[in-house]
Amino acid sequence: MCDKHEIYVYCWSPLGSGTWSGVPTSAKPVADPMIINIAEKYGVSAGQVILKWDLQQGRIAIPKAESEKNMKANLDLNSFDLRAEDIIAINQLNRNHRYGGDPDTAYQGNMKMHVSE
Ligand SMILES: NC(=O)c1ccc[n+]([C@@H]2O[C@H](COP(=O)([O-])OP(=O)(O)OC[C@H]3O[C@@H](n4cnc5c(N)ncnc54)[C@H](OP(=O)(O)O)[C@@H]3O)[C@@H](O)[C@H]2O)c1
Repeated sequence: MCDKHEIYVYCWSPLGSGTWSGVPTSAKPVADPMIINIAEKYGVSAGQVILKWDLQQGRIAIPKAESEKNMKANLDLNSFDLRAEDIIAINQLNRNHRYGGDPDTAYQGNMKMHVSE
């Protein structure tokens, strides 16, 4: 649907949320054993794998990083491309878990607003 209407998807908390969320790093995608395994295979970090997975599928990812190490890593994504089998493997990690509201229901009230053509 987004492709058809030329809508570009922006990743909300692309690395699984900042410290504001209270989610421990151990519960974030950067700690997932499969992500770590893929990162080791390419010689990059788990965060880089996640960001590349988004970018290679046409999504916009704007991660937040305070540490210099993470800032540099997040800008250094051109040295590798994930192979199709790794992208598929990461897609299969979906757990339908949301840290924020479900866009299908979070703003039900707004559905009553008239949006002109
Ligand atoms: N308007 C809103 O309500 C709202 C809510 C959420 C998000 N956002 C937007 O989304 C953006 C980012 O979301 P977010 O801050 O929730 O979190 P995020 O970008 O998903 O994750 C940030 C966390 O990941 C760490 N990190 C950054 N690069 C990493 C890497 N390469 N490897 C491992 N860890 C890494 C950061 O650590 P360090 O900081 O220590 O480097 C930080 O703890 C924000 O800048 C904001 O624009 C907006």
